[in-house]
Amino acid sequence: MDLEPAPAPPRRWLDALPDAAKRAIRPAVWAYIQAGAGEGLTAAEAGAAWREVRFRTRVLRGGGGADLRTTMLGSQVASPIGIAPTAMQRAVHPAGERAMAEGVGAGTLHVVSSNCGTRFDELGAAGPWWLQAYLPPQRDLFRPVVDAAVAAGAQAVVLTVDTPYPGTKYGVDEEDWSSIDLGWWRTNYPEGDVGDWKTDLTLDDVGWLREAAGVPVVVKGVLRGDDALRCLDAGADAIYVSNHGGRQLDRSISTATALREVVASVAGRAEVYVDGGIRSGADVLAALALGARGVLVGRPAVWALGLEGAEGVARLLADLGSELTECLELAGCSSPAEAADLP
Ligand SMILES: Cc1cc2nc3c(=O)[nH]c(=O)nc-3n(C[C@H](O)[C@H](O)[C@H](O)COP(=O)(O)O)c2cc1C
Repeated sequence: MDLEPAPAPPRRWLDALPDAAKRAIRPAVWAYIQAGAGEGLTAAEAGAAWREVRFRTRVLRGGGGADLRTTMLGSQVASPIGIAPTAMQRAVHPAGERAMAEGVGAGTLHVVSSNCGTRFDELGAAGPWWLQAYLPPQRDLFRPVVDAAVAAGAQAVVLTVDTPYPGTKYGVDEEDWSSIDLGWWRTNYPEGDVGDWKTDLTLDDVGWLREAAGVPVVVKGVLRGDDALRCLDAGADAIYVSNHGGRQLDRSISTATALREVVASVAGRAEVYVDGGIRSGADVLAALALGARGVLVGRPAVWALGLEGAEGVARLLADLGSELTECLELAGCSSPAEAADLP
């Protein structure tokens, strides 16, 4: 007789989402989305690090319900849960970033990858959106890209600094990509080959981008307090703690760990955002409790897009938002900001 209990059925739509999305997304693209770099240790550890955080809940504060509204770098948002920049959305869903923007709707921050396959003026964003930037080897070639984004309404630029080149992801290239048309890759770049990545980024590039963009600059990929301060001194307006979803240096520390140090060093000088392994309202509460102003979700948004298009993205955000509301209310907090002294 088999004494192993049958695996419990998923309780939440979110729990069932990865398996359902895997069936909807072509295998090569799925492998690309899921991949962590190296052995995948950092990618695998992300969620557990949030689940280790425990809350000193507050009581006898009158309740009355939690209001998720906040601001991120001056942008009004309906909740502190935004969408992280991810490439390949048009390989996941024919309408790509447009469907993502539709699902995001008016109230949520949407960070759009500079590698994206949709023209910025056709994005149709109803709410705040920021451009994510990978600088090309000759950074001046990025000016038309950032100009087009700002003209189309981008309110800030997120400079990704953890990717001098993509970390090795085993298995992805061995997949069959022959049926996947990537002709839309980097559609917002001017004609011609601009090269891939600027491999020698320095603090000077932060200041340069701030000047070139004329809108606030957020630095993404920071894992240390000293680097966060260097970025702010160089002209950055906010810090985005990320290890790229475990897709760059495997064995990088978890973002939950890094967030503590960065928040302590920044000491209120600037807003700090975080991503990596956020899969529930309780994970969001953990990040807020450790001092994040906002969190961003990467893979879950891509899964939802692949499975149900704009509707899936809207459902993801609604489900995470209602979980966060319950978490805040049970913790005795009426707003995201009040979560800051829970841990
Ligand atoms: C398929 C995929 C594509 C990504 N593309 C980009 C990108 O173009 N620019 C960028 O800064 N980060 C990119 N990232 C990293 C995400 O912005 C984010 O840091 C990470 O996915 C967060 O972890 P999570 O997937 O566990 O939520 C990508 C991640 C994935 C999974």
